[in-house]
Amino acid sequence: MNDTNAGTGGGRRDIRPARGKLGVLLVGLGAVSTTFIAGVESVRRGRSRPIGSLTQLNTIRLGKRTEERAPLLKDFVPLADLEDLVFGAWDPIPDDAYASAKLAGVLSHEDLEAVGDFLSTIRPMPAVFDKSYVKRLDGSNVKKGADKMELAEQLRADIREFKAEHGCDRLVMVWAASTEIYLKRQDVHATLETFEEGLRASHEAIAPSMIYAYAALQEGVPFANGAPNLTVDVPALTDLARARGLPVAGKDFKTGQTLMKTIIAPGLKARMLGLRGWFSTNILGNRDGAVLDDPQSFKTKEESKLGVLDYILQPDMYPDLYGDFYHKVRINYYPPRGDDKEGWDNIDIVGWMGYPMQIKVDFLCKDSILAAPIVLDLALFLDLAARAGLSGIQEWLSFYFKSPQVAEGLYPEHDLFIQHWKLKNTLRWLMGEEQITHLGMEYYGEQE
Ligand SMILES: NC(=O)c1ccc[n+]([C@@H]2O[C@H](COP(=O)([O-])OP(=O)(O)OC[C@H]3O[C@@H](n4cnc5c(N)ncnc54)[C@H](O)[C@@H]3O)[C@@H](O)[C@H]2O)c1
Repeated sequence: MNDTNAGTGGGRRDIRPARGKLGVLLVGLGAVSTTFIAGVESVRRGRSRPIGSLTQLNTIRLGKRTEERAPLLKDFVPLADLEDLVFGAWDPIPDDAYASAKLAGVLSHEDLEAVGDFLSTIRPMPAVFDKSYVKRLDGSNVKKGADKMELAEQLRADIREFKAEHGCDRLVMVWAASTEIYLKRQDVHATLETFEEGLRASHEAIAPSMIYAYAALQEGVPFANGAPNLTVDVPALTDLARARGLPVAGKDFKTGQTLMKTIIAPGLKARMLGLRGWFSTNILGNRDGAVLDDPQSFKTKEESKLGVLDYILQPDMYPDLYGDFYHKVRINYYPPRGDDKEGWDNIDIVGWMGYPMQIKVDFLCKDSILAAPIVLDLALFLDLAARAGLSGIQEWLSFYFKSPQVAEGLYPEHDLFIQHWKLKNTLRWLMGEEQITHLGMEYYGEQE
C-alpha cells in the first residue's frame, strides 16, 4: 500500500480560469467586513501579510512524501488574484467603510490611515433591514418595498448595477451582517414555490438574510453565510443553488472560542480522555456583542456554539467518557473591551482510573482579526467552486464554520483536522491529484 490513493485521483475537473474582476458583495459593513477589506488593501499595498488565510499562505502536499511536491494552494488551484477583488456592501447604517472601521476600533490609527482613502470610497447600498429580526440595531439606510419579493427585486437590481459599474466578470456574496433572531425551518422554506409565495406575502419566517441569499442565487452569485442565522440552510434555497449550478456554504464563521474548542476536543478524544464539563464564557464589547445581548439573537448563536462537542465526542459511542458532560456557553456584552474579546474555558477532564484534571484556557483574541481571513478564503474558494461547476452545499468548506451546512440526513463534521483534510483532499480531487491516505507502508518495504 502506498500513502496516496491513486484510485480516487480521477481526472482533473474542467475549471474556468479566474480571468477578470471578482466582486465581493458583503452584507453588513461592520467590524468583520471592514477589517477584511482593509486587510486585503493593505496586503495589496505591500504593508501587511495575509496571516490566517489558507488561500494566501498554505501549501499542499502532492503525491508521495519523497516527491517533495508542496506548492502553495494559490499556485495549485486557479484562484482569483487579490489585485482583481472589488468590494461592495449593504448596511442599514450609512457610514462608509472608513467611518465604520474607525468606529469598530479593530485596527490601529496607523493601519487605518494607510488605507483610509480606499476605505472611504466604499459606501453601503441601502439594506433590506427589519428591526424585528435584529432587535438591538437601528439604521436609516434602508430599502422600502410593498412586499419582500419587491425588496428581493431591488437587491437583484443592485447586484446587476454593481457588476456593470465595476466591470466584474464574477461575483460572490458573503453575509457578514448581524445575527438575526432564532428561526426554525417551516413549510414556507420547503420549496422554491412556497418560498416565492412567502416573499410575495411577506411571510414572517423569511428573514432579511434569506432575501439576500435568494437575490444572490437568482442573479447567479454564490453565497456564504458567516452568521448562525438559518438563511441559506433551507431546502428552498439549497435546491435553488443546485438548480442554478451555484455553490453555497454556512453557517457562522469559526473563530475564537469555538475554534479553540474544535482544536482541543478532538485531541482529548484521540487520547480517550473523558470529559465531565466544559464551561465557556466570554466578554466582548463590539456591535456584534450588543446585538448578541438580545436573548433572541443569542439563542441563534447558542445553538450554533453548543452543537460542536456532541458531534466531536460522540457520547452515544463512548458513554463512559462522554455520556454525561455538562456544557455551558455564555456571551457577555462588556463595552470597554470593544473587539478585543476574552474567552475563558474551564474544562474538567477525567484520566486513568477516573482521576479528575482541569484545563484552563484564556484566549485574548481579536474577533475580526480571526474572521477577516475566513471571509477572504470563502470568497476565493466559492468563486473557485463556481468555476469548477460545483453546486449546492459545499461541505468541504465546513473548516470555516461553527455550524456547517451538510446534506440532508448527514451529521456535520466539526473536528477541525478532519475538516482541514477534507478541504485539501477536495482541492486534490478537483485537480485530478491522488488523495493522501498517510498510510506510507511503502517507505518500510511493504508491498501494496
Ligand atoms: N467576528 C467574529 O469572529 C465572528 C465570528 C462568527 C460570526 N460572526 C458574525 O459575523 C457577523 C458580523 O460580525 P461583526 O463583528 O462585523 O458585527 P458588526 O455589528 O460590527 O457588523 C454587522 C453589520 O451588519 C449590519 N446589518 C445588520 N442587519 C443587516 C441587514 N439586514 N443588511 C445589511 N446589513 C445589516 C449592521 O448594521 C452592522 O454594521 C455577526 O453576525 C457575527 O455574529 C463574527
